[in-house]
Amino acid sequence: MTLDKWIHIRDHKKLVTIDEAAKEIKNKLGLNVMPHNISYLVQYGRINKYKIKNRVFVDIKEVEEYYKTHIFKKREEWEQKLGFKLDWELAFDLVTEKERTKHVHRLHPYKGKFIPQLVEYFLKNYFKPGDIILDPFMGSGTTLVQALEMGIHSIGVDISPFNCLIAEVKLQNYDIKKLRSTLLDMLNKTLEHIEQRKRKEFDEEVELLIRKFNEKYFSQEYRRMLHMGKINEKEYSSRVMQEFYAKYQKLKEKYREDISEDGPFKDKSFLYMWYSPEIREEMAFYLSLINNIEDEAIKKVAMIILSRTARSVRATTHFDLATLKNPVYDPYYCYKHKKICRPVNTIAQHLKKYTYDVIERIEEFSKLRKDAYYAVFQGDSRKIDIEEELEKTNPEFFKLYQEKKIHGIFTSPPYLGQIDYHEQHAYAYELFGFKRFDRLEIGPKFQGTNKKAQEEYIEGISQVLLNMKRFLRKDAKIFIVVNDKRNLYPEIFEKAKMKVIKEFKRPVLNRTSRDRNPYYESIFEVEVE
Ligand SMILES: C[S@@+](CC[C@H](N)C(=O)[O-])C[C@H]1O[C@@H](n2cnc3c(N)ncnc32)[C@H](O)[C@@H]1O
Repeated sequence: MTLDKWIHIRDHKKLVTIDEAAKEIKNKLGLNVMPHNISYLVQYGRINKYKIKNRVFVDIKEVEEYYKTHIFKKREEWEQKLGFKLDWELAFDLVTEKERTKHVHRLHPYKGKFIPQLVEYFLKNYFKPGDIILDPFMGSGTTLVQALEMGIHSIGVDISPFNCLIAEVKLQNYDIKKLRSTLLDMLNKTLEHIEQRKRKEFDEEVELLIRKFNEKYFSQEYRRMLHMGKINEKEYSSRVMQEFYAKYQKLKEKYREDISEDGPFKDKSFLYMWYSPEIREEMAFYLSLINNIEDEAIKKVAMIILSRTARSVRATTHFDLATLKNPVYDPYYCYKHKKICRPVNTIAQHLKKYTYDVIERIEEFSKLRKDAYYAVFQGDSRKIDIEEELEKTNPEFFKLYQEKKIHGIFTSPPYLGQIDYHEQHAYAYELFGFKRFDRLEIGPKFQGTNKKAQEEYIEGISQVLLNMKRFLRKDAKIFIVVNDKRNLYPEIFEKAKMKVIKEFKRPVLNRTSRDRNPYYESIFEVEVE
């Protein structure tokens, strides 16, 4: 920046450093803004930055204006629409994506996860190191991970064996050196194996064909015409694809002998349907390496890596990733990218990326974790006897439990009719041969939300609370996170003989489509009657 420009800016704006800006917003507006929140706004171009002698400055007036319009305005609008106040300090809207998915929290995708900062908030304010906390709907283990980070002992129960695997892998203590060398060795062996496969030439020719077609028919000019509404996308693309498939077919015939027809996992319906024979073969190879690992803890990490990879390489188009309509194994016209795309045809890149990512995340968490007990139990929370399980599996922890009993619960039950927790990881159940307990899930999507489903839900959740009560201290603090739009929880608490002390209302932001309509979830603080 030239001196003239700098003087001009200085005279018209009040430039401050990012740290100063965070302090000033905190003092003036009472918002818990941290320097990284402002860096984030700068990075995403929401506010301007001024670079002077390699230091970054921002205009405090602009920052203030940003927070006033974006935060205060939204608060007013939402509360006006809802007709009551929300607990904005629980929105965590200033927490960046990186922090929301910090260390092991992003080891594996899982629909319906807590944001770790929410757990952190309650654990910090209501519990102390050395306490024992319980999550009877543990899911991917967010409560237990946060507890471990804070030196709080924890117990988690989940009906889904795969969810228990995700949680265990996050919580286990590893010999990092051994973990790294074993996983990198497996990665290298698999990459070598893939490198040797026969269909390389076929793949290269297909890539070339796609490139030629994209250059000729789906150029920048095509996208411009499309944007101006001068081309009927469906008609035009299907005409081009006809021509493409004629050539593609010839290639397939030419390399007929190199292309696998069948591949492994023929008896596994999900794997057989959603993965090409080549991908299945590569996954089977990695799985055979997993089966040879002796260290049980590391073996589980490798399973998570394979499962995460499998999730990313399903035979689907870029525009159907979330819904999985029909399997697509061959190149297709992509409505998202406006050109010919090809479903992933090898696990190589994903396996490599996730191997490194998982090692890094586990290593990061290994530096933060405290010395505390944890226990993960697969089972039905309506019936499980935690005391018995602890005694069987962890005598030391059991002894501590006998002295202290459980100080509280922090949990989020399934929301009625929203998610099928086993089905969301169908590929993993087939890959590892885990037993499924779909019928024991409380409130799954496949049961819907009708009257009967609601009654079963009320019964199920209240049974869990009644069962868990046996293991709690009299003064236990219980927190239940839920979106109770059908108002089922008053009856649930009544049945469980529990009393609501307070209801926190947490605004849920960062959901672009929902941001316009107010959306919140409740955190019920309840106590045993
Ligand atoms: C909303 S999720 C919990 C997510 C968790 N808070 C997290 O951050 O990962 C609810 C969990 O309850 C589990 N669940 C459903 N029915 C259950 C039952 N009868 N016993 C134990 N767990 C059950 C589901 O498998 C699912 O993982």
